Amino acid sequence: MYVGLKPCDLHMNLEQALQHLQPDAAEAQVMESFAPPFLEALGFGHSERFSQFPVGKKPKVDYAARKNIGEDIFSQSLKHPYLYVEVKGRSKNLEDSNHTHYREASQQLKEYLLAPASKSVKWGIITNSLHVQLFHKHGKVVYPVTPCLSLDNDVKSIIKDLRRRIESPSRALIVAIYNNKGGVGKTTTTLNLATTLTLLKKRVLIVDFDPNQSDLGDALNLAPFQGKFLNILKSKDPNIREVITEHKLEHPRVKEPPSFDIILADEQLANLFDEAKLSQHLKLHALRRVLKSVQDDYDYILIDAPPNWRLFAKKAIFAADAVLIPARHDNLHSLQNAGTAITQFIPEMQKERQQFGESGPIALPIFMNNTFKPTSPAILLMRQAIAKIIQDAKINHNGFDLKPYFYPKSSKGHENCKMISIPYMACISRADFMHMPAAFAFKPAREQYLNLVKEYFL
Ligand SMILES: Nc1ncnc2c1ncn2[C@@H]1O[C@H](COP(=O)(O)OP(=O)(O)OP(=O)(O)O)[C@@H](O)[C@H]1O
Ligand SMILES: [Mg+2]
Repeated sequence: MYVGLKPCDLHMNLEQALQHLQPDAAEAQVMESFAPPFLEALGFGHSERFSQFPVGKKPKVDYAARKNIGEDIFSQSLKHPYLYVEVKGRSKNLEDSNHTHYREASQQLKEYLLAPASKSVKWGIITNSLHVQLFHKHGKVVYPVTPCLSLDNDVKSIIKDLRRRIESPSRALIVAIYNNKGGVGKTTTTLNLATTLTLLKKRVLIVDFDPNQSDLGDALNLAPFQGKFLNILKSKDPNIREVITEHKLEHPRVKEPPSFDIILADEQLANLFDEAKLSQHLKLHALRRVLKSVQDDYDYILIDAPPNWRLFAKKAIFAADAVLIPARHDNLHSLQNAGTAITQFIPEMQKERQQFGESGPIALPIFMNNTFKPTSPAILLMRQAIAKIIQDAKINHNGFDLKPYFYPKSSKGHENCKMISIPYMACISRADFMHMPAAFAFKPAREQYLNLVKEYFL
């Protein structure tokens, strides 16, 4: 029905469909009248979409879509879907991210996107024809890339924006490694995750955004910048390539050493300004804007954030798509601070990002970086402390459930309180003295970080 229409006709069809839909249209009506012109406007023709697409054994996502490739007609082959759309009736509240309707719809979409049959799917949309939100899937991470957009506003520009994003090449996932408690393994994790991902042939950039310590560069025996990165952050038209250094993982037996890129810390960021002046000079979005300019060149960009909730930490979290939070089982403050980051700091930056027409960042589950081998009584103490943190968050933050962040593997009716962790390993701290990432120098460390990569990313 929509074949061969010009873009303006497509918008007209969509706009007409929106005008004719009843204010309380049920899901079936939204599916019938809104979803086809919506997908058409997003660039998926009649044979490039399929309704009630089987994802696993039982569940079916409302729509799957993919451009036809030569003779491979998507609606016939049903192979390699690219986009899923989960449709709801207009009575479902998708506008308020705290509403159960929104939580259920986004969770449902996330499950579809992460199903084994959805490997090729990169994008997901939830919509009730009043609101629409786009999610990106990067490996195992599903995160929103737009806020929930109201279709009452300029539909044309919303469609244009969604289309631009969906059609763009896959971009790096930007991850900030953060806990406002010091010494929990942020720098160590950044370095070793970067190394492990590099060994898996991913293109990785790491950013030392802790200028007061510049530990990341120290760990590799690299001297910090003296103003170069500051200038890039201040510049309206930054040439970020000027501050990117290639770091080769050299070994006598490796002929072609793998490498990742690094942006070193800038001592002038730490020395030159006080906090008030610094915030005048460097806007909150400075780091994100700079990193976005090279986002297509990498698979992962990892930011080592400082242990506080001041300007650099805020910029690092603001810049990220996802935040990875290490904590220590034997350090109460690191557990409490992990909870605070998720219930307060990250939502604070989510609000700021909305002002830029963006969504996120999301918090990834917390992991225990076990700086000491835990004994059973220590584990019991930790679990009691976590139970209290979870309970307090529910009371103080409007029912916020921290449990999936501490115990990501426990499912409903299943009290499997397993955590993600990296054990204490002497070789991890020894590697600091060798100025080499432990995951490169020591096989047992590499195996541990490979597990971490599999838990979170691949
Ligand atoms: N799993 C581990 N096993 C053994 N030692 C570890 C482990 N993780 C981190 N360490 C060591 O713990 C110390 C602190 O780690 P790291 O510097 O990464 O923490 P941080 O959170 O970045 O600290 P800061 O808040 O000061 O930036 C380092 O000496 C590091 O080598
Ligand atoms: Mg550090």
